[in-house]
Amino acid sequence: MKKLFVKTYGCQMNVYDSARMADLLAPLGYAPADRPDEADMVILNTCHIREKAAEKVYSELGKLKRLKEERREQGRPMLIAVAGCVAQAEGKEIVARQPAVDLVVGPQSYHRLPEMVARVTRASGHVLETDFPAEDKFDSLPQDLSVSGPAAFLTVQEGCDKFCAFCVVPYTRGPEYSRPVAQIESDARRLVEKGVREITLLGQNVNAYRGAGPDGETWSLAQLIRKLAETDGLERIRYTTSHPRDMSDDLILAHAEIEKLMPYLHLPVQSGSDRVLAAMNRRHRAEDYLRLVERVRKARPDLALSSDFIVGFPGETDRDFEDTLSLVREVNYAQAFSFKYSPRPGTPAAAMKQLPDEVKSARLQILQALLSDQQDAFNRACENRIVPVLFEKPGKKPGQAVGRSPWLQPVHVDGAASFIGEIRDVRIAGVLPNSLRGKMIEKAQVH
Ligand code: 5AD
Ligand code: SF4
Repeated sequence: MKKLFVKTYGCQMNVYDSARMADLLAPLGYAPADRPDEADMVILNTCHIREKAAEKVYSELGKLKRLKEERREQGRPMLIAVAGCVAQAEGKEIVARQPAVDLVVGPQSYHRLPEMVARVTRASGHVLETDFPAEDKFDSLPQDLSVSGPAAFLTVQEGCDKFCAFCVVPYTRGPEYSRPVAQIESDARRLVEKGVREITLLGQNVNAYRGAGPDGETWSLAQLIRKLAETDGLERIRYTTSHPRDMSDDLILAHAEIEKLMPYLHLPVQSGSDRVLAAMNRRHRAEDYLRLVERVRKARPDLALSSDFIVGFPGETDRDFEDTLSLVREVNYAQAFSFKYSPRPGTPAAAMKQLPDEVKSARLQILQALLSDQQDAFNRACENRIVPVLFEKPGKKPGQAVGRSPWLQPVHVDGAASFIGEIRDVRIAGVLPNSLRGKMIEKAQVH
């Protein structure tokens, strides 16, 4: 038996892709390893969205090269593969800079991994695949999806045609592609058979989903969700990440009508300034976003909102930043991610005049303080309430289990280990910085 170690960087789609790569390589005899030094093959599934992503990968590769040499001296060869968006962006450059790398595989070509591994072990030299055939990939992934716990991700859409001025995704993940409804339905059924109770539908631009329906029509994300909600045993549905422009009426209605659709929406706005939004090529104004939030909240009053923000985009003034803060105050987020703008080579914003790092850092600190206050307030409002928790895995203490509330908050509960895989009502007894503490309620207390 050979061993495979996959190190995953970045988004949930990468987590999903890493699990699929492990599924693909299992028939070649690769079982999961816990550490790179015990692995016959190491895959770095990389992310290109953050600053110095490529540099971090090269430094990790330097360490792996030493490991590879040590293993070779012991007569135990090791393959090194670079996958994901850095692989896509850097391509041949990777093997040029780090010849210890055997394989470079882009996000749309990793279904070819088994064949690539065979080629590289048979011959020698490097194998590179960075094409964009998303259709091919989904057709050739193994049907047998591995699951780890009752909450699973399912990719339904990939790529992006939006071309926000700061973003590499349209270049690394390629054009938008939506998987056919039937394919997704059968994946969902298989996941549920394996004990999955919650599915998060993934896509870089998931609410732009337009997949081939079983009736020959093109289906929207709302139609897909409605169909999946009919799956017996599937209790919770989520989707991420959405663009405000694609938040259609039928999707908003789905939030009102479909109970299994969780009351949580990650809807990145990036900035609250119309000037910056235009420069970012977001193609909506702050006001459009606020009205949209109003409409989704009207459809689902207990909806929790989350967003991504970029501060210090080229040209952002103090006034623009103030507009972001006032948008945040108006929306009141349950949770959010915020980043300093950092130039990605090849994107339009990278060629614009950059702001000093001190300005970005100062703004980020102010924004994060505000967002963190809002998150605390949201969590505190849950105290003493009874909420349904899907228990996902054991906690740190014996007998403890950790699950998620409908609003995606992690909840730790003592004495709940036997409920892993199930949804149970829990009383929220305390608020910790990034999670909630819950108590199982005695049967007699449930009315
Ligand atoms: N600089 C900073 N943040 C970025 N993001 C994407 N590209 C950049 C960049 N060049 C952030 C956006 C996006 C999230 C996934 O990452 O906020 O929504
Ligand atoms: Fe990137 Fe999202 Fe904009 Fe697409 S919509 S370019 S993935 S930030």
